[in-house]
Amino acid sequence: MNDSKALASRRRFLKTAAGGAAAAAGVLHAPFIIAQPAKIKVGLMLPYTGTYAALGTAITNAFKLYIAEKGGKLAGRELEYVVLDDESDPAKGVDNASRIVNRDKVDVLVGTVHSGVQAGMVKVSRESGVLSIIPNAGFGAATGALCAPNIFRTSFSNWQTIHALGKVMMEKGHKTCAWITHKYAAGQEMFEGFKEGYEKVGGRIVKDLWLPFPNVEFQALLTEIAAAKPSATACFFAGGGAVKFVKDYDAAGLKKNIPLYGNGFLTDGTLQAQGASAQGILTTLHYADSLNVPKDREFRLNYAKAYKLQPDVYAVQGYDAAQLLDIGLKAVKGDMKNTKGMIKAMEGVTIDSPRGKWKMSKAHNPIQDSYLRQVVGEQNKFVGVAWKALEDPARGCKMG
Ligand code: BEZ
Repeated sequence: MNDSKALASRRRFLKTAAGGAAAAAGVLHAPFIIAQPAKIKVGLMLPYTGTYAALGTAITNAFKLYIAEKGGKLAGRELEYVVLDDESDPAKGVDNASRIVNRDKVDVLVGTVHSGVQAGMVKVSRESGVLSIIPNAGFGAATGALCAPNIFRTSFSNWQTIHALGKVMMEKGHKTCAWITHKYAAGQEMFEGFKEGYEKVGGRIVKDLWLPFPNVEFQALLTEIAAAKPSATACFFAGGGAVKFVKDYDAAGLKKNIPLYGNGFLTDGTLQAQGASAQGILTTLHYADSLNVPKDREFRLNYAKAYKLQPDVYAVQGYDAAQLLDIGLKAVKGDMKNTKGMIKAMEGVTIDSPRGKWKMSKAHNPIQDSYLRQVVGEQNKFVGVAWKALEDPARGCKMG
């Protein structure tokens, strides 16, 4: 053995011997460990690719903004995220939700945007009992026939976003219209909600047109709208689909003679890309860019500072999802296992939202004003309240 090896070996021996002697004497001191409460595991299951990617990102940004405003903790507990891109693919909805809930064991499931994917998430939420907050998807059954104590929504039901539009269009003198949307769960529910409201005030849908999600080849359908000669067109499109539709509608020369209406997803978070094609479009939604609500002014400033972007309705809903979680957690002093206590605190709550204050319904869906907005420049300007305190009928909801 050379000198340095001998030295190292001796040091190891002394260390072991000293440790052994100390342990034998019962004087081995463990280093001080201050117990930290475990982090709360938040599952963010949202689209980060595809037509609705920008929507998922806005929700995530605003959720995290609220947490940052609270110093990174809710009720004294830090958060960690399990993030999953659901790709707005309903075929993977159940598997993805099951993975994040049963394998990753999140404490709370936040998601999603697409109603078809939400259907799968609701199934997993109901089976597992995991606390779930929906920050966008308007899937009616989530707070209707499939409502459950552990499922809350901070956004809207599809019906709710379009119910007031028929009344608005009739007031503008449009007694007939064409309808167009993507053919999937949300498109179907928006159509039914619009039809109910429009026919109630005497309107008639002369043509309804559908294309598979997320197809954006609109040309043939635009030709059909022109041929049907309706007084106006009503539609539901969001994200990338909304950008392309508004531009194509204008480029086809339809906008001037057959004005385009929709729920506000048509022009929210999309105006920069839609440019001149969107100017003047009237929509209904539970948010607008110029609400003059103190909470909104503060939110818009902080969001713009953090992300160098203007927020949109999706960001507002994500922010409110974090606010709701905070209210639940505070009530149980951070004890996430006390789901019953959290649910009790979250039920019937009033949220001070950038969209204006709203109240949680018995079915766990916001009761909120529906605003009429008009596109001016890059803003959805507030025009007026189209429907005060609009509540989803929550058909079939029996809260157990
Ligand atoms: C939905 O699928 O429920 C939906 C997607 C985007 C905007 C609004 C609703």
